[in-house]
Amino acid sequence: MTDTQSNTLADAIVFFGATGDLAYKQIFPALLGLVRDEGVNLPIVGVAKAGWGLDQLKARAKDSLEHHVKADPASFDKLMGLLRYVDGDYNDPKTFAALKAALGGAKRPLHYLAIPPSLFGVVVAALAAAGLSKDARLVVEKPFGHDRQSAAALDAILHEHFPEESIFRIDHYLGKEPVQSIVYTRFANAIFEPLWNRQYVRSIQITMAETFGVQDRGAFYDATGALRDVVQNHMLQVVANLMMDPPTGEDHEASRDQKAALLKAARPLGPKDIVRGQYRGYRSVPGVKPDSGVETFVAIKLTIDSWRWAGVPIYIRAGKCLPVTAAEVLVDFHAPPREVFGEDDRPYGHMRFRISPDVSVAMGLRVKRPGEKMAGEPVELTLNEQAASDMPPYQRLLGDAMRGDGELFGREDIVDAQWRIVEPILANPPPVTIYEPGSWGPEDSDALIGADGPWRNPEPSV
Ligand code: BG6
Repeated sequence: MTDTQSNTLADAIVFFGATGDLAYKQIFPALLGLVRDEGVNLPIVGVAKAGWGLDQLKARAKDSLEHHVKADPASFDKLMGLLRYVDGDYNDPKTFAALKAALGGAKRPLHYLAIPPSLFGVVVAALAAAGLSKDARLVVEKPFGHDRQSAAALDAILHEHFPEESIFRIDHYLGKEPVQSIVYTRFANAIFEPLWNRQYVRSIQITMAETFGVQDRGAFYDATGALRDVVQNHMLQVVANLMMDPPTGEDHEASRDQKAALLKAARPLGPKDIVRGQYRGYRSVPGVKPDSGVETFVAIKLTIDSWRWAGVPIYIRAGKCLPVTAAEVLVDFHAPPREVFGEDDRPYGHMRFRISPDVSVAMGLRVKRPGEKMAGEPVELTLNEQAASDMPPYQRLLGDAMRGDGELFGREDIVDAQWRIVEPILANPPPVTIYEPGSWGPEDSDALIGADGPWRNPEPSV
């Protein structure tokens, strides 16, 4: 490690909301991975108001790791030895004095706010008052805001004590190996880039399907809905990775600059660009209002007003209780300008990026069927196929934040551009249509894609 790197490397990790769900499901497994794979060896302080002590936090961490990862005994013991715990009210300066003591002489702590956004202001101000914000970094969770205005208000709160380059807005999709693989495939091969525009691309489909419902997250989900939960963030980030211009220059912001440019060129959605659905049975989930009009399925048609992408429709659908759990991108190419062989059946060719649960990159083409006739059939060439990555996205992201590398995080202008796209629909959503669990959502989504369809449904994982 060079001096510059060690000067920018965080020297302690603090996670607020240590007794909560996110810590249980994501943060403990990520911390274990960092200790095991990257030799992280620094104070890790959990903070919460639960009346707990360190032993209870360790028991919680143990339970989390048993459920989510295979922890080898050495890494497990190492992590347990690094853990500290501070219990207290976020409104009480004593909590932050205790945190300061637990941090010892740490000069560049990374503070992870795994807490509701309504508490961000209090915690950030208290960190600053305790002298714990200078040279520190802040990691915040999605959803970042509830709409464009509230995201801007959160930005203002955070910026009071943390400059933009010290803020790391998590979107775990960006930490996913296959999402990075889209960028790699595009820019590591010269042959794709000439095809990546309106001249060759006819339409794009992105599907994020889940077989399960909202499970025990009824109250959260009913205040959120599919558009805010996964489209405004995860799906639009996939769009940005898939469609941005090649990054230029050496600046470490190069890639985020291109994503921002792409998303700023997207046209805000209108009422005709969206279909909202709700699975039958959703209203009886605990925490959901009995007359809820919140969508558990959404399909949108997105347009990018740039020279490269003008006129190329992008169809995105995401939903719960669908027939498979899989996320895929399909870039559909145009038919040849003239039909030489008298065939008019589609498809003519595509690129397919499978994001989850397994990972693949494939290219679809037509090849000649053996025989006298000049007739062919579609085939798909798999360029890369692999099982899901072992490194959980949170491990990659937390590691990057510790190093101060913001490339895989939402930047203020990017998150704002994402909200800008969905803003008109959030303000004035069309009604939901009920769909049967196990179906592909409301039939209206077929009308939305129309002649650019049909929707290509991802195959289940084998
Ligand atoms: C989360 C959403 O951000 O992403 C969930 O809140 C969704 O509703 C999840 O299920 C999907 O992510 P992954 O990585 O599990 O496919």
